[in-house]
Amino acid sequence: MTFPVHAIKSNFPIFTHRPELVYLDNAATSQKPLSVIQTITDFYTKENANVHRGLYELSSRATKRYEEVRKKVISLIGASNQNTVAFTKGTTESINIVAYSFLKKKLKAGDKVVISAMEHHANLIPWQQVCKESGALLEIIPVNEVGELRLELLDSLLDKRVKLLAITHISNVLGTINPIEEIVFKAHKLKIPVLIDGAQSVGHYPIDVKKLDIDFLAFSAHKMFGPLGTGVLYCKEALAPHVDPHTYGGGSIKNVEFEETEFLDYPHKLEAGTPNIPGVLGLGAAVDYIQQLDIHEAIHHTKNLTISFKDKLKSLGGITLVGQAQNFGSIVSFQVKNIHPHDVSGFLAHANIAVRAGHHCAQPLLESMGVPATVRISFSIYNTMDDVDKTIDAILGVKKFWS
Ligand SMILES: Cc1ncc(COP(=O)(O)O)c(C=O)c1O
Repeated sequence: MTFPVHAIKSNFPIFTHRPELVYLDNAATSQKPLSVIQTITDFYTKENANVHRGLYELSSRATKRYEEVRKKVISLIGASNQNTVAFTKGTTESINIVAYSFLKKKLKAGDKVVISAMEHHANLIPWQQVCKESGALLEIIPVNEVGELRLELLDSLLDKRVKLLAITHISNVLGTINPIEEIVFKAHKLKIPVLIDGAQSVGHYPIDVKKLDIDFLAFSAHKMFGPLGTGVLYCKEALAPHVDPHTYGGGSIKNVEFEETEFLDYPHKLEAGTPNIPGVLGLGAAVDYIQQLDIHEAIHHTKNLTISFKDKLKSLGGITLVGQAQNFGSIVSFQVKNIHPHDVSGFLAHANIAVRAGHHCAQPLLESMGVPATVRISFSIYNTMDDVDKTIDAILGVKKFWS
């Protein structure tokens, strides 16, 4: 069956309002289907009330719907207990919570945290900072010249002093898909907990936290067709009691006295204050949207676009692909000989083609590969072969303009 890309594209109102738009910055944020937008508008228009507080119908309804989103999320990520899912502002906040409210109290001078060279700053800086504050060491799994992790070094990097391993599922720069099953297996042999940064994978690729035995999974709604400002921190049940509240206030407590506070269990202890209720409901609608797609067909579609784009790009000549891993997602980073990535993206912008140029919040990665910046193209389910061809034509135009 051919992938119903045109029907899918019609679910995203931005393309009706901007028919000329070729949106290829999906790794930064995806567009939103009408069902997600409508869910948020309906909440404010017809159902606005705070959660976990009122006994009146509107408030209990908001609470019920808010809590139901946890069930939707666990079915997406293969968890079995809805109380393993905490709502956060996004991947960045989720990772910071693990760094500061789980790891920091365990870290002593001489301990180690292991990450990889291909991490987004969100999965680097929090570990760098907790390590600095506690005298621990941040160890880096390097990447090879094609942009794959040098996993042959993992055994020598992992030892009893490592208190956490944090790794991205898919690189937001190189598109590399990492073998997280193998990585988690090796870490668990030494009882090292593993955090997976799922910002580029959840909702786009199947992920099963139970099967993969993932300890923490962080991701953002806005990269998987949901709203901005909402994300998830999944935490395995056994570790949940060891995650402390990170923000203090109402909504996260069992009992408060002037001297002491008794907190609720995970996930509620992480959700002090009024949460982003429409954001969470919008995340629920995004999960519903994803679950009515055939994810394998969707992957096949975006992979076809990616392969076709790479082939056509290479045939233009004077192109360097940055990252050519065997197992790759729908992200392509490249450089055009003698033309700065910002000039390429600026030229494409004039042709209504939205792409990203720069270091993509992974400055140390690009430095380690000897590349100051790249142009990044990232495909999603609503992109078409026409988008690929328009972009290739525009890149040809850039090359002619600067020749
Ligand atoms: C791999 C990866 N991790 C983390 C993040 C940070 O996500 P957010 O800005 O939604 O917190 C991003 C965003 O681009 C990302 O691509």
